[in-house]
Amino acid sequence: MKSIIVSMVAAAGLMVAGSALAVDMPASGKAKCGACHAVDKKVVGPAYNDVSAKYKGDKDAVSKIIASATKGGSFGWKLGTMPPKGLGATDAEIKEMAEFIAGLAK
Ligand code: HEC
Repeated sequence: MKSIIVSMVAAAGLMVAGSALAVDMPASGKAKCGACHAVDKKVVGPAYNDVSAKYKGDKDAVSKIIASATKGGSFGWKLGTMPPKGLGATDAEIKEMAEFIAGLAK
């Protein structure tokens, strides 16, 4: 019995480690932003890793990223223009994404 519990705990630990390794954006971000953004490579817009690096160490990173994604436009990446709120993201989804993006470069 004890060994069964130990192996169950070990399996749960492996699952947690697996999801921590594969950095993936929240599902809403994939649907509303994923057509133009990926975490680790430039697509139409900049890689989220690069956006995170831009705001690294900025205590207002999350609110600045929220402002950019809400307003859309150009932010100096010279890649084009982002539509306001991406593909129809809600404020809550943008906040979730901003927190995710800001957390990448830590
Ligand atoms: C139709 C394509 C498109 C979609 C959809 C899109 N973006 Fe963008 N995004 C861009 C482009 C293009 C840029 C770079 C603009 C430039 O050249 O400065 C950009 C830039 C950004 C930046 C950088 C802002 C900065 O201050 O430097 C962030 C953050 C961002 N997008 C977040 C999002 C989020 C979050 C979503 C989903 C809600 C999203 N984007 C959806 C095209 C898109």
